[in-house]
Amino acid sequence: MSQDPAPEKLAPRPPGDYGIDAPRLLIVPVVLIGAGVAQGVIQRTFWPLVGVVLILACCGLAFYASRSGKFVVWGRLLDGLNLRGSEDIVDLGCGRGALLISAARRVPAGRAVGVDLWRADQSGNSPDATMRNAAAAGVADRVELHTGNFVELPLADASFDVVISNVALHNLKAHDDRDRAIDEAVRVLRPGGRLLIADLGGTRQYQQRLQRLGMADVSRRGLGWRLWWSGPWLSTHVVSARKPS
Ligand SMILES: C[S@@+](CC[C@H](N)C(=O)[O-])C[C@H]1O[C@@H](n2cnc3c(N)ncnc32)[C@H](O)[C@@H]1O
Repeated sequence: MSQDPAPEKLAPRPPGDYGIDAPRLLIVPVVLIGAGVAQGVIQRTFWPLVGVVLILACCGLAFYASRSGKFVVWGRLLDGLNLRGSEDIVDLGCGRGALLISAARRVPAGRAVGVDLWRADQSGNSPDATMRNAAAAGVADRVELHTGNFVELPLADASFDVVISNVALHNLKAHDDRDRAIDEAVRVLRPGGRLLIADLGGTRQYQQRLQRLGMADVSRRGLGWRLWWSGPWLSTHVVSARKPS
């Protein structure tokens, strides 16, 4: 009896240089560690060093999430979609392509489109950097990039089978803008299309907006320690939904 070949096992992190997230926030632990070390030296006590070790542990978690955790978690989320391999996928706030390229590897006959404003929320963020990563991973032929804002996507109605996004939409500070971003994500989905939006904050709002828009199977869940951006107090949740056929 013939058997289907085993599906190709993909390493979670595609080749390429994916930078680190929120590099400007590094100033906070650097200042706190400097102050702790200085206090320990001046007062000749080791107690401030306990704080320094805790801060270093928090930094380690954030570094892991940025460099490794998101690839593992999103690899599982994408595999959970049971893609056929011919889908059109759009990544909102694709940055240097961590999810975008992971998605592109799973759709050899499809398309992976990234939308971004290339802001400093990720180190070395630019279309060139993302396309270099796509080339390193061997998927440049199916990757397309657009410069655009979440609140006004430069994409046609009902043109994607899957919408994905990771720690990006929270950059919209206004409540109404976050609603508009969800409306836009739903607008570009085809009937039957699926949506996965992971974020640090705002996910309850996304969930409520999706329910109000009549999306099906709307749910929200935590993504675990691999996406703790310093500890459980700064964790990531994913909201998933399906556009009714
Ligand atoms: C923290 S990075 C995450 C990038 C990517 N999703 C990842 O997980 O590697 C957030 C991204 O959202 C983009 N961004 C922020 N505000 C945006 C907006 N209003 N419209 C489009 N992109 C935006 C930034 O340029 C940045 O690339």
